[in-house]
Amino acid sequence: MVREPVAEIAGLFDVYQSGVVFHCLCAVTRLGVPDRLGEDPRPVSEVAAAVDADVDALRRVLRLLAGHQLVEFDPGTDRVSLTGRGMLLRRDHPLSLAATFATLGVSDVAHRTADALRTGRAAAPVALGTDFWSFLAARPDRQAVFSRAMAEQARLLSLPCVDLVDWPAEGVVVDLGGGTGALLAAVLDTAPGLRGVLVDQPQVLDRSRAAVAERGLADRCEVRAGDLFDPAPVGDVYVLSRVLHDWDDEAVVRILSAAAADAPAGARLVVFEDVLPEDGSASAAQAWADIAMMLLYEGARERTAEQYRTLLDRAGWQLTETVPGPPGMHVIDAVRRPG
Ligand SMILES: C[S@@+](CC[C@H](N)C(=O)[O-])C[C@H]1O[C@@H](n2cnc3c(N)ncnc32)[C@H](O)[C@@H]1O
Repeated sequence: MVREPVAEIAGLFDVYQSGVVFHCLCAVTRLGVPDRLGEDPRPVSEVAAAVDADVDALRRVLRLLAGHQLVEFDPGTDRVSLTGRGMLLRRDHPLSLAATFATLGVSDVAHRTADALRTGRAAAPVALGTDFWSFLAARPDRQAVFSRAMAEQARLLSLPCVDLVDWPAEGVVVDLGGGTGALLAAVLDTAPGLRGVLVDQPQVLDRSRAAVAERGLADRCEVRAGDLFDPAPVGDVYVLSRVLHDWDDEAVVRILSAAAADAPAGARLVVFEDVLPEDGSASAAQAWADIAMMLLYEGARERTAEQYRTLLDRAGWQLTETVPGPPGMHVIDAVRRPG
């Protein structure tokens, strides 16, 4: 379809400008600006003082965000308030996405996309000087925000899928790379006879232990430091939620093989990941997620069900079923092949 050049130029500039809007939104959320705002208009100078920002710079950024329905800004009174959309960036909102926007991530590494395009390699090591996981391990403040972001996203993506899975009434569920434990806690809630083991990197486990204790599950759930590439604890059901898309194919086979190492024949593996269409297409959100993976982690990507089937097969698992969840998420069920 041919459109008027002027319309094409406007469309191009929309894209051009939305990049800056994204960075501004990440920056104000990182500074905690939404936490200082509510429905009642507040002087910009007060907000700037509260978050230690330059008042003129903050006013101009808020004026930009007002054009995107995130805040309401009245230049006459120099006061600002949050819209319903902006409220989602407050940390105390029940559906908060504050950490998702505040975390170190695409906003920080995307400026090296041209390098990634030339080399086919992740942008994070170029932008951060080290791989993403090592960067987080060395920066507890960033790790804490990342963990909160994962919990926010689990609430939207993995938790709604818990009811799609036929969990057993008893046995051990091993959640590998389980993060803050929100998903494993929800799984254990499905049956009092289930016990859990959460495995993750040592630097995330304080938060996982606290989350498990808060849910009253401490006596049914062990939280254990471990590596995805080492043989997993023995269990009846293994869970990998939003872990495999962080890794290249060879690493995925190693992770799946480590899960299979001591798993009894017939053990189940439940993978929570989005699944791309088989024809090479992707929705806009899927294409975005795929690029985010490409930029953040070496060799990481979104995959089709057939690609997961092949990788599972190489590691001794047989894919049995793929069930769609909410947009952006599927449940892939697999079983440990005998031998
Ligand atoms: C994208 S997060 C997903 C967290 C959680 N499963 C969820 O769905 O919210 C990936 C998780 O893998 C963990 N991880 C990364 N590398 C790891 C490794 N080598 N060994 C164990 N866990 C690792 C991270 O700490 C993080 O918790």
